This record gives sequence, structure tokens and C-alpha cells, in this order.
Amino acid sequence: MNEKIKILDQKKSEALLGGGQKRIDAQHKKGKLTARERIHFLMDEGSFEEIGMLVQHRSNDFGLDKEKYLGDGVVTGYGTVSGRLVYVFSQDFTVFGGSLSETHAEKICKIMDLAMKNGAPVIGLNDSGGARIQEGVVSLGGYADIFYRNVRSSGVIPQLSAIMGPCAGGAVYSPAMTDFILMVENTSYMFVTGPNVVKTVTHEEVTSEELGGAMTHATKSGVTHFACANEVEAINYLKQLLSYIPQNCEEDAPSVPYEMGNEEREELNAIIPENANQPYDIREVIEKVIDTDSFFEVHKLFAENIVVGFARLAGKSIGIVANQPAVLAGVLDIHSSTKAARFVRFCDSFNIPLLVFEDVPGFLPGTDQEWNAIITNGAKLLYAFSEATVPRITVITRKAYGGAYDVMNSKHIGADMNFAWPSAEIAVMGAKGAAEIIFKGEISSAKDKDAKWKEKETEYQTMFANPYRAAERGFIDEVIKPSETRIKLIKAFKMLENKVDKLPKKKHGNIPL
Ligand code: HXC
Repeated sequence: MNEKIKILDQKKSEALLGGGQKRIDAQHKKGKLTARERIHFLMDEGSFEEIGMLVQHRSNDFGLDKEKYLGDGVVTGYGTVSGRLVYVFSQDFTVFGGSLSETHAEKICKIMDLAMKNGAPVIGLNDSGGARIQEGVVSLGGYADIFYRNVRSSGVIPQLSAIMGPCAGGAVYSPAMTDFILMVENTSYMFVTGPNVVKTVTHEEVTSEELGGAMTHATKSGVTHFACANEVEAINYLKQLLSYIPQNCEEDAPSVPYEMGNEEREELNAIIPENANQPYDIREVIEKVIDTDSFFEVHKLFAENIVVGFARLAGKSIGIVANQPAVLAGVLDIHSSTKAARFVRFCDSFNIPLLVFEDVPGFLPGTDQEWNAIITNGAKLLYAFSEATVPRITVITRKAYGGAYDVMNSKHIGADMNFAWPSAEIAVMGAKGAAEIIFKGEISSAKDKDAKWKEKETEYQTMFANPYRAAERGFIDEVIKPSETRIKLIKAFKMLENKVDKLPKKKHGNIPL
């Protein structure tokens, strides 16, 4: 027996070395961790159990029968993060550049299947040169097997992707179909076609980093939700993210113990500027309403005119969507609508109640927006809120104008509680523009046109630039002092804790994609 155990030990030691020490050193030289080191930092100590450590590829072409590595370029298994079960796959760049072979794909699929059956998140740590070129179509089939599972798992278990090296070609579509992507600055990139193909086809000269680096995707395309300074930061973000979300769609979002105290927040009364056109940072409002230091912002650098993220309120996990008056006056446009819609759908999939802070002057005008389909894209947010069945609360801090009023979780599209601050302005449009249209005749025939315009603007302003018209109708449930926002929200979310709301029976809706 001892001899047999020795053989097993030898095999395991060999597997731990992946593609060998030389390649491990090369990985470190690039400032990257190895697949196993990443798992070590991610999982609770001693909790990781590996599956498929001795798997080898089955290819004989191009001399591959003479080049085999135990594990075949991906470390897979399960363990715990902060005591909660997660499944993980971590691609090993030291073995054929982490490229995906038939067996490599099978290993990933195996843990995806286990995760689905057992209702726990899957975390993918991606570092791969793409399809194992020597294997051809077999490798493509492997990718498709993963894509299929990504889609089947979507909305059932959380799927998180950290990109820690190359991720190119069709390989990008697996992370793209997961719930959140994290990228590491300077060492990771994602693109469908790389700089060389781009140069040949469009004659553009661009580096990998410019084309598909972390900052590019965090700021320009929105493909990644987080740009992390290094791999350890990315792993910490993964852990934080997990702390706000449930294990699967059947579970409630996690909470931490909280003892009620003085929940008044006097400082909130002083945030809204006297002049309604003056910006302020909505993050200040968010920070003062939620539990101290609990805001975990998602998609921070993309479409900054809307702020989304997770937080805790009286210990309970919530998702926040907030117009940002400090950027483009908080206007809704294509990017901010799609950013928010995706976040709303994630929260709704995983039973995370939604809190909306609204200060929106309307949709952004212009040919760029119209020609790029602000109609379809704005509709995504409207659709996402309307179909969400989780508890939903809105606080209108200032402007709620036009169609944007409807879209931002209004009563009419199913919000459960709608609060407004006394500074709220809820109307079809701003007073200036409104006066220009409805009093056009009166103004143009007046002797002093400017004075008349001002008079009519003030008339409209007095009548509509407040929360009371909406409150009269019951569109607003209560006009509240800013200082009492936190306690009102705690009570309202508690009241909604057992909310049951179901969509009509259907195969699935048809969100305007
Ligand atoms: C097999 C690969 C590989 C691949 C890299 N390697 N990519 N082996 N299949 N796709 C091997 C290399 O031969 C090398 O082996 C080792 O991995 C490290 O690669 P290097 O090139 O030395 O590393 P680096 O300089 O860091 O460059 C990394 C890289 C480059 C940019 C990823 O390797 C590269 O361009 N690879 C090919 C990328 C690609 O075209 N993939 C197919 C895309 S199409 P040794 O033995 O020297 O260590 C695709 C379709 C998916 O993925 C479709 C899904 C629907």
C-alpha cells in the first residue's frame, strides 16, 4: 500500500507544478499569480477541495501525445469563502497558456453542473490564450458547452468572472454572460479580435491595453464592472461582492446583525442646494442613509451619471440605483439606462430589495442618442423595473421630470413605497421650457416679453415644481424630511419583508435588447 500511496503523492506533486517551475517563474515575472495561488487567496484556509487534478487531454495531433500535464490547464473544485460554499475554476496559464481543450472544458462544466445542483455561486478566474489551437473544433465545442451552462445558470446561481490574463476571441462570451466581471489593470485584456486583426481590417493601431484593458472596459465599453489595481484587490472585491448576494435564487440576500439606535440623519437636510440647477454628489446622500461604510459600488467608472451598487440598511442587503446630479445633471442616456437595467435585473433575480434615489432632469437629447437607440435602451430600464418583484422603494430628492419620472421606479410601474423630499419637483418638464410652450401666445403678445415669461415660469414652478401635486394623487406615499429618510426606509423595507409578487405565467418576457 505504501508504494501505491507514494505513486499517488508523486502524481499530486506533479499536478501542483502545472506547466513546470520555469513557466511558474515566468508567470510571476509578469506580475501575475498562478492559478493555485489565486485560489489560495480567495478561499477560506484549508477549505479548497480539488476535483479533476489528474485529468489529461486526449489529443494526439501536433505531438500533443508527448506533452501532457496533470490537470490540463485548469484547477477546479469547491470550498468556502467567509464560510459559504462556492465553486471555482482557475485557468493555469503555465499549461499551454491556459488554453481550453476538450478536457479542460469538461472540468469547468463539471463544477458548473455541481454548482447548479447544489445552489452555490461559480467563480471563474480566467487566464487563457483561448481555444487550444491543436485541438481545433473540439475546443470550440468545449466553449459552447460552457456558454450553454452559463445561460442555463443565469438567474439561478450567481456567476462571477475575474479576468487575470488574456481572454480573447469567442472566449470572452463566457464571462460576458456571467453576472459580474472584474479585470486587473495592465495584466488582463478582453477582445473579440486582437490588435493585429484590428490593424489589418480597420488600419487602426492600438495596443492590447488600449483595445481591451481593464480601464478601457471599465470606462468606455462597460464590459467590466470593476477595474482592479492588482490581483489581490480583485480577489478582495470578489469576496466583498459575495457578502451581499445570496447563494442562489431561492435564498434571501444575506444580512448582518444590526441594533437600532438613533436613526435620524440631520446632515441630510443640508445636502440639496438652494439653487435647483446646482449639482451635488448623490453618493453623499447614499452614504448618510445606509449603514456606515456599507456601500459597494458597481460599475463605478462607467456611465457615471447613474450610480449603482450594493449596501446594507439595518444590516440587510439592498441594491441601490441613484441618478447622479454631479455628472451630466443626472440625465438618463443610453449607457446609464443599460447599466442600471442590468443591475436591477441582477438584484431582482437574487431577491435583493431595490432602493432608488431619483434626481433626474429627463432623457438626454441629441442625434447621437436617438440614432444609437435611446428609445430601445431607455426601455430596458423601464422594463427591468416593471418586471422586478422584489421590494422596491423610491426616494425623490429633487427632479423627477418627464418620462424619466415614470422610468425611475415610479408607483405606476410597481414600486411599493414612493417617498419625496420637500425639495422634489415632479412634473412633465422644467418650468422654463413648459412656460415657453403653453404660454407661447401670451408671452409673444405681451409688451414686456421677458417679464411675462418670468411670470409664467414662476406660475408653473409654483404649481408643479414640488412634490404635493403627486402626493395629492397618491403617486407619492409620503413627503418626508431628508433627516428621517433612513428610519422611514428601514421601516418600509421591514414592512415589505414578506412581499409576494409574481409575474404572469409566461415562457419569458421579451426585454427590448
Ligand atoms: C495552445 C497556446 C495557446 C493556444 C498560448 N499557448 N495560447 N497553446 N493553444 N491558444 C501556449 C504557447 O504556445 C506557449 O507554450 C504558452 O502557451 C505561453 O504562450 P506565450 O505565447 O509564450 O505567452 P505570451 O507571450 O504571454 O502570449 C500569450 C498570448 C499568445 C497572447 C495568449 O500565446 C497568443 O496569442 N496565443 C494564441 C491566442 C489565440 O489566437 N487563441 C485562439 C483564439 S480563437 P510554451 O510551450 O512555449 O509554454 C478562440 C476561439 C474561441 O479562442 C471560440 C469560442 C467560441
